[in-house]
Amino acid sequence: MSVRKFPEGFKFGVATAAYQIEGAWNEDDKTKNIWDTTCRTPGAILDNTTGDDVCKSYDFYKRDIQMVKFLGVDFYRFSINWTRLFPNGFINKTSESGLKYYNNLINELIESKIEPVITIYHWDLPQSLQDLGGWANPLIVDWFGDYARALYKMFGDRVKTWITINEPKQIGVFGYGMLYLAPRLNAHGIGEYLAAKNVVLAHARAWHIYNDEFRKIQNGICGIVLACEFVEGATDSPEDIEAGLDAMDFSVGLYSHPIFSSQGGFPESVKRRVAARSAEQGYPRSRLPEFTPEEIEYCKGTSDFYGFNHYSTSFVTRENFKTGRFPVPSFDDDLGAVEIVKDYDRGALDYSFIIPEGIRKCLNWVKKTCGNPKIMIMENGFNTFGGIKDLDRISYYQRYIDAVLDAIEIDGCNVVAYTAWSLMDNFEWNYGISIKFGLFEVDYEDENRKRTARWSVLWYKHLIETRALQHHYLPEFREICF
Ligand code: BGC
Repeated sequence: MSVRKFPEGFKFGVATAAYQIEGAWNEDDKTKNIWDTTCRTPGAILDNTTGDDVCKSYDFYKRDIQMVKFLGVDFYRFSINWTRLFPNGFINKTSESGLKYYNNLINELIESKIEPVITIYHWDLPQSLQDLGGWANPLIVDWFGDYARALYKMFGDRVKTWITINEPKQIGVFGYGMLYLAPRLNAHGIGEYLAAKNVVLAHARAWHIYNDEFRKIQNGICGIVLACEFVEGATDSPEDIEAGLDAMDFSVGLYSHPIFSSQGGFPESVKRRVAARSAEQGYPRSRLPEFTPEEIEYCKGTSDFYGFNHYSTSFVTRENFKTGRFPVPSFDDDLGAVEIVKDYDRGALDYSFIIPEGIRKCLNWVKKTCGNPKIMIMENGFNTFGGIKDLDRISYYQRYIDAVLDAIEIDGCNVVAYTAWSLMDNFEWNYGISIKFGLFEVDYEDENRKRTARWSVLWYKHLIETRALQHHYLPEFREICF
């Protein structure tokens, strides 16, 4: 059996997000966020479930920490539910019970020798701010900055790793440009680009606040997490190769280029394509808003690490592409490419193809386009319809982590951390609870939401204990419940 050691100092973690696990959606003075609203919109969630009382982590957080401790990870990544702490959306009023909850969670983690890693925003915008335009309103840069500053003040004495925003593409393209995610605006061709600019600026604001007001005293790091699904040309033709590169610019570069490149601003290919399509469509200016020269400078270099989420790879072509295939205008029409489905195994979600070399290629794309930054893998994982004996999940982790080690050892990518998604089954957004990403299974029929360790728990625990990837290792199974 071959064994591959991880580099010295490499860290392992496990992640969740507030709306996906907390439940207690209207407890105490908490107000509605955009997911509370979306879950009450007929047809929005495929299995008609809600996050209302999903994993009940608000009540049972101590048990979550025991599970995290059992895994033996170095850090636990979780997010703050904005309206649980600030019921108005604005920071003029703090919820005492919300504050107590997050203080308890953080303190208990630290006592258990697990580093708390906080995501400031994981998709649960206060409905009150959405009603004012949400991420399409430039004033959100101030609102988000205020919120981030309040969190640094409250928790920054103990929290040393901050993630400002999780996955801007999912927020903008799927939330503002389509109907998949909250707030389901479907303002395609417009909304996703307004959100892109404001999300990047809001992130930069939160980073500057940390850098200027807190870093010296609190000594932590602060960065953004991007969805880094890999997209490649479907064939080796120059047109397809270009389509793949453009797709990466549209999906990832739109957010990484303003922050990590030396040039700053949106990528040239996206600017060019959206401007050309906008002109053809009779718009007086490009639908992609520009950054001012001051904004370009303000955003450059504003992430202490590159937060990298990755699940799968897809393939695109421009052969036979005709405008009108997607809504006009839209992100997909602007990109002008279509996906080709290849014959790879997949998980429960029909787009989650198992292509381990994709994570390696994507890490290399980041290395090349972003100046070889320090990369923290903040999510990677596999989805099924359930089952305790999850050999498919183990195989996924095994093969993907192997590819990450190739990226580190052979390609020189500067990857310093790996995070498994997710600690337990949870509310998988528009898919509801039927899709399972958990290391731990959650019994939704049980009032206490009993958690049972899947085989992958023991597998990941062994990886962390040995700090090594042992090929073909399978743990001896035993039943463990929390
Ligand atoms: C999100 C998670 C989600 C996961 C699996 C990521 O896009 O950050 O919240 O559950 O993917 O779909």
